[in-house]
Amino acid sequence: MSHKYIQTNEKFSKKIPRHIAIIMDGNGRWAKKRGETRAFGHKAGFKAVKKTVKLAIQNKIEVLTLYTFSSENWKRPKLEVVSLLKLFLFALKNEVKNLNKYNICLKVIGNLTAFNKELQSYIYNAEKITLNNSGLILNIAANYGGKWDILEGVKKVVNAVQNGYLDINQIKETIFSQYLCTNGLLPVDLVIRTGGEKRISNFLLWQIAYSELYFTDVLWPDFNEFIFQDAINYFSTRERRFGKIIKD
Ligand code: IPE
Ligand code: IPE
Ligand code: MG
Repeated sequence: MSHKYIQTNEKFSKKIPRHIAIIMDGNGRWAKKRGETRAFGHKAGFKAVKKTVKLAIQNKIEVLTLYTFSSENWKRPKLEVVSLLKLFLFALKNEVKNLNKYNICLKVIGNLTAFNKELQSYIYNAEKITLNNSGLILNIAANYGGKWDILEGVKKVVNAVQNGYLDINQIKETIFSQYLCTNGLLPVDLVIRTGGEKRISNFLLWQIAYSELYFTDVLWPDFNEFIFQDAINYFSTRERRFGKIIKD
């Protein structure tokens, strides 16, 4: 496999993304290639998540947002949805101690009300237990949709205006951002999508207006330190103009 962006670390040491968001795609195809069930692929995907969290810490990434379940993924066969929810619960039950060990602060974004009470309580508990950890912020997008996030933000803004907390003329981009699930987090610098598709699939929308985008054909369970480094190196080569022009 060729990694055309792999360069020496020294040259790029200054431009490290602070917030990386990943669309972890390809578990199903990875399993199919091995004659296994999709659930087996998701389990392998969970191992890749654990590896990636460690890589993020090693590379001093400040925020890692992972797309684990989209608002559209309910359309999958019931058995697969159940296996994904079970895996999420398993991870919450078993990994909280590791989150504390590695000083990770866990956040979960998405429409959590659709989950059963047991899962919800494990989510809130894990967030509470890790709230004061000062290391990596691990932001899990579960039953998340970018359009849903924006609509929820709109509803909250309308409510604030109706109740007199906010004047309509105060609604600027910075203010509206505060009504989204990602309020308080650093801007997303880099989006990585594995699995070969070059689309956003209703992941963060507002938040990635100026993010750099890195796509790889590698299937999520095969994600490793080399692809991670390649994505970071790719980011380092980007000139982020934000609409301006850079003078020579
Ligand atoms: C991504 O892998 C994981 C989730 C959506 C939960 P997929 O399950 O979409 O895998 P492919 O795209 O079918 O290979
Ligand atoms: C995006 O992958 C959602 C997650 C990775 C959680 P999908 O496999 O659901 O996306 P599409 O269907 O290919 O757009
Ligand atoms: Mg997919």
